[in-house]
Amino acid sequence: MTIRLARSRRLGSVLAAVGNTPLIRLEKVACSAPDVEVYVKLEFMNPGGSVKDRPALRMMLDAIGDGRLSENKILIDSTSGNTGVAYSLMGAALGYRVQLVMPKNVTKARKDITQAFGTELIFSDPMEGSDGAIRLVREIVNKDPEKYFYPDQYSNPSNPLAHYLGTGAEILDVLGDRITHFVAGLGTSGTMMGTTRRLHEHTRKVHCVAAEPAEALHGLEGLKHMASSIVPVIYDASTCDEIMPVPTEEGWDMSDRVAREEGLHVGHSTGANIWAAVKLAERAQKEQGGGCVVTIAADRGDRYFAPLKWEKRYTW
Ligand SMILES: Cc1ncc(COP(=O)(O)O)c(C=O)c1O
Repeated sequence: MTIRLARSRRLGSVLAAVGNTPLIRLEKVACSAPDVEVYVKLEFMNPGGSVKDRPALRMMLDAIGDGRLSENKILIDSTSGNTGVAYSLMGAALGYRVQLVMPKNVTKARKDITQAFGTELIFSDPMEGSDGAIRLVREIVNKDPEKYFYPDQYSNPSNPLAHYLGTGAEILDVLGDRITHFVAGLGTSGTMMGTTRRLHEHTRKVHCVAAEPAEALHGLEGLKHMASSIVPVIYDASTCDEIMPVPTEEGWDMSDRVAREEGLHVGHSTGANIWAAVKLAERAQKEQGGGCVVTIAADRGDRYFAPLKWEKRYTW
């Protein structure tokens, strides 16, 4: 077996390390569709360890560009995880103060990572989940709007734009006419909206599918069950060609399989994405006899090593 090693890159700053993530072919977990290529784009290889580096950087650069973010302002937003890490990293690298609102019950590891960059934390009611954090940050900003830059990743067009200019363009650059399907989970929906818009501009039709937790009370952190959540302003259901419900169990089981069979230790939302990608591959195998499905690895599994409130089976 010959393996070509990736070339090393010399970069001017950590910001330049965002994007250009690799696509990895999954053969073992997709063996039920042998004539369909299934790829996962390793967004955990961004410097903050997740897909959220792209929108965090884009939202900050766009706001610096048009004056919404200036030296005397504090960046504040609600996030229980990856976006918080990304804002913290970018804030440190660009020299801006960052405050994050998150439910009090998020893992200690999550609090520690963001605080390591100098970020200040404000806690919301754990019973109200991520929607409670959104309500609290809005209250804080409304009391003193001049003090803050509130990117609001749920409403900010720079979030999907980051994926339109980055994720989608990079996938087409590597796969061109080969890609037939794309699937991504819905959190803010930025990944799905931006990437899909770019893929839909391609000359060849790409069938773009949103993976959504099947249940309102689910264990796929990072993803939203739209019918029971505050729907993000940037979400437009008509952009998606199809919505595929993913049961929590399937996402968790696929995360286990991908670690053991492919050597990729991914988070549960990524397990859900890959489960949906394999379902699409099986359909393409049956109906078209081939195809090329692309999905996203939003983050790494070790980000979830601390106990979760919905933890069912794992003891670390
Ligand atoms: C682990 C994980 N998966 C998936 C997503 C969904 O991405 P998006 O917000 O672009 O819909 C997120 C977003 O925070 C996430 O943290």
